[in-house]
Amino acid sequence: MTAEFEKARSLIENRLNTLFTKDVPDENLASSMRYSLLAGGKRIRPVIVLEFAKAAGGDMESALDAACAAEMLHTYSLIHDDLPCMDDDDLRRGKPTNHVVYGECTAVLAGDALQAECFKILSNSNLPAERVVKMVQYLSNAAGLMGICGGQALDIAGEGKSLNAEEVSKIHSLKTASLLVACAKMGVAAAGGSDTQLRAAEEYAENLGIAFQIRDDVLDVISTTEELGKPVGSDDENEKSTFVTLFGVDKCRELIEEKTQAAIEAVKGAFENCEFLVWLAGYLAGRVN
Ligand code: IPE
Ligand code: IPE
Ligand code: MG
Ligand code: MG
Ligand code: MG
Repeated sequence: MTAEFEKARSLIENRLNTLFTKDVPDENLASSMRYSLLAGGKRIRPVIVLEFAKAAGGDMESALDAACAAEMLHTYSLIHDDLPCMDDDDLRRGKPTNHVVYGECTAVLAGDALQAECFKILSNSNLPAERVVKMVQYLSNAAGLMGICGGQALDIAGEGKSLNAEEVSKIHSLKTASLLVACAKMGVAAAGGSDTQLRAAEEYAENLGIAFQIRDDVLDVISTTEELGKPVGSDDENEKSTFVTLFGVDKCRELIEEKTQAAIEAVKGAFENCEFLVWLAGYLAGRVN
């Protein structure tokens, strides 16, 4: 399965590498966009797009535009998440954050441009128009008020307060799971999959997304900055409510396991070939970075 993971990742890496290199009006802005995009993320979201396309009977190549769009949107969200007005972090993907290297103004614009360019690449995708429209709908929903931005607003508003489990869950669902849901559904849509497969994709990714963010919050407490490539203790410093502050690390491990099993069950019924998706859920539950 790791060979499959590497294969999908190298397709993504190669494609991302070609972006923003020619005829750019501002070299500094293009360079800052490439700096964060190519800093070596795990590429989980684009891999999910490609693997759902494959599981739904399509080929990975035809879903590559959507996969790269998802990674561009994700990278923008990380650049903005690290800004002084948000989590104020100075390390990301093992490197100084975008605003530390390029300054706040360029970092804001790099995020803005990545978000717009992601919809450009997605809408230019060489697939039947009705599939492309569906993909744009899924990704724009995940990006906006009903997704990342709404979740990030609640996350920041919750700093210094004691949120309950329901409130933390809602933040996780919006800021993190929504994009994973869009990725899974874009993969199915790229392959022209069924409504049943779309629903299964959604259920898988929603559960995976909650487990992913709980694991992220656990790692913020138990890992090291060297291993994570981003500062540990960021949540504590910003007085965030997380499942770790609510229930402790051991209970979080149980919750991650529950959500991971729910994700696995969701795809098992709907996709004949979902071995990789099952493996990925287990891998992410125990990830160390
Ligand atoms: C970090 O996502 C942000 C969260 C939603 C927790 P990843 O852990 O996927 O970060 P990269 O892309 O590998 O850097
Ligand atoms: C997820 O939450 C952020 C986004 C949705 C962009 P975090 O703030 O915990 O992510 P990290 O830990 O900085 O990667
Ligand atoms: Mg944050
Ligand atoms: Mg953060
Ligand atoms: Mg975090």
